[in-house]
Amino acid sequence: MVNPIGAAVVVGLVGCIYKALKPPRPKICGSPGGPSVSSPRVKLKDGRHLAYREFGVPKEEAKHKIIVIHGFNSSKDVCLPVSQELIEDLGIYFLLYDRAGYGESDPCPSRSVKSEAYDIQELADKLQIGPRFYVIGLSIGAYAVWSCLKYIPHRLAGASLVVPFLNYWWPSFPARLSREAFGRLPRPDQWSYRVAHYAPWLLYWWMTQKWFTSLSIRAGNMAVFSPDDLEILKTLSSVGEEKITQQGEYESLHRDMMASYGKWEFSPTDISNPFPNNEGSVHIWQGYEDRLIFYKCNRYISQKLRWIHYHEVSDGGHFLIFKTDRCEAVIRALLL
Ligand SMILES: *[C@@H]1O[C@H](CO)[C@@H](O)[C@H](O)[C@H]1NC(C)=O
Repeated sequence: MVNPIGAAVVVGLVGCIYKALKPPRPKICGSPGGPSVSSPRVKLKDGRHLAYREFGVPKEEAKHKIIVIHGFNSSKDVCLPVSQELIEDLGIYFLLYDRAGYGESDPCPSRSVKSEAYDIQELADKLQIGPRFYVIGLSIGAYAVWSCLKYIPHRLAGASLVVPFLNYWWPSFPARLSREAFGRLPRPDQWSYRVAHYAPWLLYWWMTQKWFTSLSIRAGNMAVFSPDDLEILKTLSSVGEEKITQQGEYESLHRDMMASYGKWEFSPTDISNPFPNNEGSVHIWQGYEDRLIFYKCNRYISQKLRWIHYHEVSDGGHFLIFKTDRCEAVIRALLL
């Protein structure tokens, strides 16, 4: 005998759980009822659009072309403090784009570490910026740079990983070091990264539930910033901020976490030198005081990969690129 009340309770519970776990449909830019499209976009082979922003010297006249890859909860509107003088002296064309699901770029349900490199390659080819270009990846955007170094090294003129994010489950990465770095993170962040890694199907619920803190930044925990970061934070521009997650946090933030903290096909330390004849260079910039990214891990990667130029900024935190002198140092090191 089935108890009808019991059965109704079970069905109701299953319904609630299903609703809590299932992300809402994204509000696609340019679709009926969705946000409008105001930036130029390219259409990729699979039909998705990528929105982009160009600045600096026109690409036809540029000596150097740099694609800048934004970080978590950011977009192509991220403002790099580079002087007009440096841009003109070195002849630099900058290309920024909204990574899939962010801003005005269509979501990519099959987004992965690998898909990021191919998005960049297609963007470069659609805009005809030539056979080789530079990439600069900021924070979590650095996983796209590792992806380029792994999958499309022949397209690169040089690469810079600025305060590059860490995956705590990289294959063939010393477990002791990963544990040490992970242990330094605030508890809520540890849980969020664990969920993204082990149970991505639960991530939407985890990031939207109200019982526990998901990310300490969101809860206003300022202890994750170094003194230098706190200074810089006051000066950061908020241009375009309202557009970052306008298509939904799931397709932007949550997918970013699932791709970056998920299971990788390779470890950065397995990558071989893309420039054996010194035709270009690869750099890591790390703040010694960065409280989000533990310096020892990126120091380790640079010691393993002797072809990486490692720059450790003693008083630098996670936002080191947002000071003009350092931002220009990153660019000069890459191009000269
Ligand atoms: C993303 O940034 C906005 C401000 O631009 C902030 O209000 C929001 O809490 C941030 N989200 C996360 C998950 O950090």
